[in-house]
Amino acid sequence: MAKILITGGAGFIGSNLVDELIKQGHQVLVIDNLITGKKENINPKAKFFEVDLRDFEKIKPLFENIDFVFHLAALPRVPLSVAKPIESNEMNITATLNALVAAKDARVKRFVYSSSSSVYGTGTELPLKESMTASPISPYALQKYVGELYCKIFSSDLYNLPTASLRYFNVYGPRQPEEGSYVPVIGLFLTQKKKGLPLTITEDGEQTRDFTHVSDVVNANILAMKSDKVGKGEAINIGAGKNCTVNKIAELVGGETKHIAPRPGDVRDTLADITLAKELLGWEPKISLEQGINQLKDEQ
Ligand SMILES: NC(=O)c1ccc[n+]([C@@H]2O[C@H](COP(=O)([O-])OP(=O)(O)OC[C@H]3O[C@@H](n4cnc5c(N)ncnc54)[C@H](O)[C@@H]3O)[C@@H](O)[C@H]2O)c1
Repeated sequence: MAKILITGGAGFIGSNLVDELIKQGHQVLVIDNLITGKKENINPKAKFFEVDLRDFEKIKPLFENIDFVFHLAALPRVPLSVAKPIESNEMNITATLNALVAAKDARVKRFVYSSSSSVYGTGTELPLKESMTASPISPYALQKYVGELYCKIFSSDLYNLPTASLRYFNVYGPRQPEEGSYVPVIGLFLTQKKKGLPLTITEDGEQTRDFTHVSDVVNANILAMKSDKVGKGEAINIGAGKNCTVNKIAELVGGETKHIAPRPGDVRDTLADITLAKELLGWEPKISLEQGINQLKDEQ
């Protein structure tokens, strides 16, 4: 049994990771300021600290005697980062640096960082490979990339903190955001369908996304904690390795559609090359998009 700290453990992906680690018998601590996370997402067996990662003095003692850190806390919305670049810079970069310093001071065994496929930017050849140059086109993407670079520096001889960065492609599944101005497409369409509203498709709907089920993302994190092939700040794609148009998602959800203006800062297409995740983590996605969306429709 390990003692594990999860930042952002009240959020969508973080709370799914907390549940799985508790199921596997680990002791789990959660740090979350509840800015987007919800208290009801937090597993009652986890120890919860309602603290903001920007407050280094408050978070530092919580890292003592921790074996592994999963850093998921962030303000993960491209449009929000465009509207509020200063606030999102603090949430995504300052908070990450604080978590890294606290983890290094506490000599944790490994720090697994949640990064994003948005670091690749747009106009890049598909599929997206880790060997390609990152070219962020929004403050959010830049901030996630800076987090990766910090992880790499912290894993070097300067600080000797083993780290790995997972670049998630569009994640969906239970507890995904379903309301609000910046909701990702699958959650948005399911909510619109439930309310009897038309599904709002931006652009022509032929833009593509590589959608990854949250349970696959959870497994990737746990493998990144265990694999002896990572720890030097490797950036690893975590995606389905298949992409799908927004029009196709609308078809799977079902219902009337209407087209609306594009959102600034969004990339046109994403598709992950997942060779490295297979090599370094022994990871492969298990849930197909059809399965994942049908499960969500059944739960509604
Ligand atoms: N959802 C996706 O499709 C996706 C894709 C790529 C990367 N990611 C990354 O995965 C991670 C988790 O994303 P999510 O979709 O679960 O988002 P989320 O908003 O549901 O979770 C983020 C959590 O972090 C907390 N938080 C934010 N700032 C904090 C701070 N300063 N101090 C303490 N807690 C703070 C929030 O309250 C929330 O509970 C993020 O780092 C995000 O960048 C997500």
